[in-house]
Amino acid sequence: MARQFVGLNSSSAKTETRTIKPYPRLEGEIILPGDKSISHRAVILNSLAQGEAEIDNFAPGVDCLATVRCLKALGVQIGKKGSQDPNTLLVSGGGKDGLKEASNVLDAENSATTMRLLGGLLVSQPFLSVITGDASLRNRPMGRLIKPLRLMGAEIWGRGGDSFAPLVIKGKKLRGIDFALPVASAQIKSAILLAGLFARGNTVLRQPLPSRDHTERMLKRMGASLESQGNSISLLPLGSPLAPLNIRVPGDISSAAYFLVAGAIHPNARIIIRDCGINPTRTGIIDILLAMGARLRIDNERLEADEPLADIMIESSELKGIEVGGDIIPRLIDEIPVLAVAGCIAKGKTVIRDAGELRVKESDRIATVASELSRLGAKIEPLPDGMIIHGGGSLSGTEVDSHFDHRLAMSLAVAGLIAEGETTIKHAQVAQISYPAFWQIFLSTTREDFI
Ligand code: S3P
Repeated sequence: MARQFVGLNSSSAKTETRTIKPYPRLEGEIILPGDKSISHRAVILNSLAQGEAEIDNFAPGVDCLATVRCLKALGVQIGKKGSQDPNTLLVSGGGKDGLKEASNVLDAENSATTMRLLGGLLVSQPFLSVITGDASLRNRPMGRLIKPLRLMGAEIWGRGGDSFAPLVIKGKKLRGIDFALPVASAQIKSAILLAGLFARGNTVLRQPLPSRDHTERMLKRMGASLESQGNSISLLPLGSPLAPLNIRVPGDISSAAYFLVAGAIHPNARIIIRDCGINPTRTGIIDILLAMGARLRIDNERLEADEPLADIMIESSELKGIEVGGDIIPRLIDEIPVLAVAGCIAKGKTVIRDAGELRVKESDRIATVASELSRLGAKIEPLPDGMIIHGGGSLSGTEVDSHFDHRLAMSLAVAGLIAEGETTIKHAQVAQISYPAFWQIFLSTTREDFI
């Protein structure tokens, strides 16, 4: 029987804690939330389409709801199908001229994807927009968004000498650009593509490394004239409105990662994950776990609106340390916190390099992962662009902090499963950013009655 967590303190949202202890058995079938990256894009692009679209399995996390709220404030009609399908959205796109000036500041909350993608869209819309976010988002780099959009003629400003949000945007007609992205960022790539849809002339983007390509797949599927070749993308401005896209969003592989690592490092585990997105620009975590020796199987591969998905089975495994760096980093950037937990248990040394982008995520994930896992007894040396993890040791439970970073909260839960004694995670409620049901589902896989 599944056990309830002890230590939940819901009296103050800011200090909600969760306490995890080792469980003798981990088993179950996981149904994932819809993929966060695909959900943002599905609701934004369908808002620009001409007509109605149904998005099933829309990501229920706070980040994607921020995107929905911003689009509603911009006049898009977005409703729920009914109480039976709480994660099904009906979007009524108004076509090319469908967006209206919002009567207030737009709030992207904790979501950089919301801010950057909407930033790329709003620079071409004939009205004023101001977009802000929470303290973490207002501290994340926006110069990388502002610079290329200005090359397209955009009028966009940010705090701190155009480096940070809030952003102020005075929409106008733009021109296409030929631009080499200095960082492999899917958010910046998508922002420029959104701006390019409404620009004069075509837009060509050259990526240093491939990053997630959901925007490209969806734009093509909705009728945009877009071609990708190697690391280059070429987009023509929209001649006619995008066609609405009905989609059932595949499960989020970034959410699956907690269960993949938990299954691999727990000594008595077997977990099946259903309907998980396996877009090759996102499957770095699978490749690395397999290379570390994980007993992982992919079954039932199929496509949904040009996005591949499958079922994944993972069992207790003897992992060995590995070197992770280079091209694979953008394919697993969000999974590095939980990969670090795998590195603590694996035999030998795990070295993560070329991942300096971790420093500008929801927290400085090199610093926060190293400090919180070290509290549990892990031996981790932070590097400017990654970390060295000396594996094979044991962890012991104590109090740790999510630093209000959803991916760190969930990674610490996985560490707590194999740490001796109790691990108490402060600010655990932040998991709701991407996976509101995480704690309930995580717990339902733990078994105390297994013999
Ligand atoms: C995302 C892209 C990634 C990722 C983020 C979501 C997206 O960031 O880390 O969580 O949906 O486009 P980059 O833009 O830095 O690649």
